[in-house]
Amino acid sequence: MERVRYAAIGCSGMGRRHLHGLARLLSSSHANIELAAVCDLDAGLANAMADEAAALTGARPQVFASIAEMVRREPGIVAANVTTDAGSHLAVSLQCFAAGLHVLCEKPLGLTVGECRAAIAAARKAGRVLSVAENFRRDPMNRLVKALIDDGAIGKPRLMLETSIGGTDLIVTTPWRHFKHTGTVVLDSGVHNADIIRYYMGEVVAIQGESRLHEPVRRPQPQVDAAAAQRDSWWGARAQLPAQTQATGEDAVYAQINFASGAVCQWVLDRAGHGLARDSRLIYGSKGSIEAPGDRNGRPVVLHCDDGTCIDDERILDFAPSYRLSPVAAELFGEARPWRYGLSFNEVDQSLLALQLHELADCIQRGVPPEVSGEEGMADVALAYAPIESGRLGRAVTLEEIIAGGACPYQDEIAELRRSA
Ligand SMILES: NC(=O)c1ccc[n+]([C@@H]2O[C@H](COP(=O)([O-])OP(=O)(O)OC[C@H]3O[C@@H](n4cnc5c(N)ncnc54)[C@H](O)[C@@H]3O)[C@@H](O)[C@H]2O)c1
Repeated sequence: MERVRYAAIGCSGMGRRHLHGLARLLSSSHANIELAAVCDLDAGLANAMADEAAALTGARPQVFASIAEMVRREPGIVAANVTTDAGSHLAVSLQCFAAGLHVLCEKPLGLTVGECRAAIAAARKAGRVLSVAENFRRDPMNRLVKALIDDGAIGKPRLMLETSIGGTDLIVTTPWRHFKHTGTVVLDSGVHNADIIRYYMGEVVAIQGESRLHEPVRRPQPQVDAAAAQRDSWWGARAQLPAQTQATGEDAVYAQINFASGAVCQWVLDRAGHGLARDSRLIYGSKGSIEAPGDRNGRPVVLHCDDGTCIDDERILDFAPSYRLSPVAAELFGEARPWRYGLSFNEVDQSLLALQLHELADCIQRGVPPEVSGEEGMADVALAYAPIESGRLGRAVTLEEIIAGGACPYQDEIAELRRSA
């Protein structure tokens, strides 16, 4: 079958990472997609990525600084991989759908639930695929945890504890992640947590929460300097961060989430934590508990049983008979049922991004829906904001009302800020 020709829109940090994901896919026996063009408002970044693509894949894509010109001059392109900043996802996706392209959009799908709804409507009207690039759940260790839960390894799930704290007053990658109208860090990181929480625990009913802006003055990460930029090209575009960023968006949420199953999750996402930084993910059930290793590290999942046994080796696979990676994931990670893997962060990252690109082409070629559809991506955005909305309203909110566009004072303010910007 012919490979799907796509354009990469957004050639900064994440765009470069996706390119390495493509190279990983092309080196496998499942290559089903090819990069025809790269596009960035910054022509220098687009050219640099085209050069890198040539070095990595042997073919230099066409370079554009405008999507309109790209679709006019390259009619053979059928899909777009959108890795622009969060605040531009809707505008870029709408342009792509209007040009008849299928879209793989980086998370978050939109800056508000309303923006997500608009992207979904445009995809539907154009009859095109809309897939959200949510990579964490594709990590084999997260697939294993999901299978353990589904296969009853811990009995009936009762409680999830999702904690991610650290960051002090440092800028999280780019300044836009600290501005309310361009995507707070709570949205940018929080959609990943939201997706994992929903993936593991199922339908969310209600959320009671609060949010904070603890560190309104943010300073650059010490490693984002010229030396780091040279070592790692992904940081190149970010080397010139301002000495100080005045944050306007929340940097912490604290929430309790209730699921249709009766289970509960306590979620802490605090990107302003000082002292002890911690990422931890635990799921307790009626028979035992699971210690999930987190994302993209390949550490083993641990199953804790009531008799004190602690299973952290290949015996864990006996408790997850349904666990089996897709053929392409199995090739990229070396086996169909890994209980751990020993890859560097970059290798894992590339493999997960390769899976997303492969799925996009597969959906186009076979007419099947993506795993993380527009609706899934919208529910993740809704859950990320739910603690803030709950805090603003001083009551629990339902996910349903947030998805419907009610109970959204914070997102209404964002929409207003963006209208008047
Ligand atoms: N899934 C993950 O693990 C992960 C990790 C990092 C970033 N991301 C996501 O990737 C996206 C990009 O993040 P980043 O850190 O690379 O952002 P960035 O700000 O460094 O880069 C965004 C790029 O998009 C370009 N751009 C903006 N509007 C455009 C337009 N209309 N046409 C063409 N180019 C345009 C900008 O010029 C810029 O080069 C974000 O949505 C972010 O949340 C995901």
